[in-house]
Amino acid sequence: MIEPRTNRNLALELLRVTEAGALAAAPLQGRGNKSAADHRAVEAIREAMASVDMRGTVVIGEGEKDEAPMLYFGEKIGNGLEPEVDIAVDPIEGTSLTASGLPGAISVVALAERGSMFTTHVHYMQKLVVGRRARGVIDLEMPVAWNLRRIAKAEGLPVQELTVVVLERDRNQQIVADIRALGARIKLITAGDVAGALEAALETRSGIHCMMGSGGATEGVLAACAIKTIGGDMQAKLYFRDDKERELAKKEGHDPNKVLHLDDLCSGSDIFFAATGITSGELLKGVRYEDVYAYTQSMVLRSASGTMRIVDAYHPIDKLRAKGLLPEQVAIP
Ligand code: FBP
Repeated sequence: MIEPRTNRNLALELLRVTEAGALAAAPLQGRGNKSAADHRAVEAIREAMASVDMRGTVVIGEGEKDEAPMLYFGEKIGNGLEPEVDIAVDPIEGTSLTASGLPGAISVVALAERGSMFTTHVHYMQKLVVGRRARGVIDLEMPVAWNLRRIAKAEGLPVQELTVVVLERDRNQQIVADIRALGARIKLITAGDVAGALEAALETRSGIHCMMGSGGATEGVLAACAIKTIGGDMQAKLYFRDDKERELAKKEGHDPNKVLHLDDLCSGSDIFFAATGITSGELLKGVRYEDVYAYTQSMVLRSASGTMRIVDAYHPIDKLRAKGLLPEQVAIP
């Protein structure tokens, strides 16, 4: 438990943080510039976090200290007051989706007790995520067909009625072929596997039963933080592009072959998670401008209570303009 026992308002503070990230990114939806959108979201998240009562350290994020403007590994955020927490953050999870105006981009942050989150500079992780009903039946080391048959049994469905989310990448091609060979349905996504993982964990909201394949390691930790609250199951394993990355994992003190379970990815018991839609997807609606308001939809989770909140918010456009979150014109370099 975070000491002093985490202020329960932290969950709502985090909500403001991801709302700010999404609102800052939204004017650049479809404008074809990933880094301009990311830049705006990073700055908004950094500013929103600065006033939160916490002594936070980014333990898994997107950048290194010299890679401005990213929120970098080791960056201290918050106003420096207690509690001391680990932070995992992705100001835009799905920069390419945002730049093209495609579904499924979100702004996302998780925090938990200091020292509780898995941290690595290795880029990718293999992931296997399922909902509550299939908890305990999966094994990442076993073949795709073995897992899908067991998931189908746990779900009480024939295997061909399962829907599996897979990030469309060359490295995931064999998994796609194995799923097709078995006859299960697939939802291929071009980006955004935190949302994909949450859809699998929240199967009853999404009709998705499983997520398989490798994606970002930061995204894996973010998903694990949420899944520890909403239920479901996840296993992961570092995925190495080359021997250098395998050596890096060893230097970081990781067993490169270890299957990571939810508690390895986040051992905390006091976890806060917030995500706000940037572009509309199956998990969350994206930012819309309606009359005098900008609309956002967010998910807020707090593990101590197990509460999942879906929050619709209407932000007065004139106030957003005054804060710089919605400029009249966004110049793209
Ligand atoms: P960004 O947050 O950088 O836009 O990442 C999007 C994403 O698709 C993640 O959802 C996924 O985990 C990761 O990229 C996969 O990385 P890559 O595109 O290099 O395969």
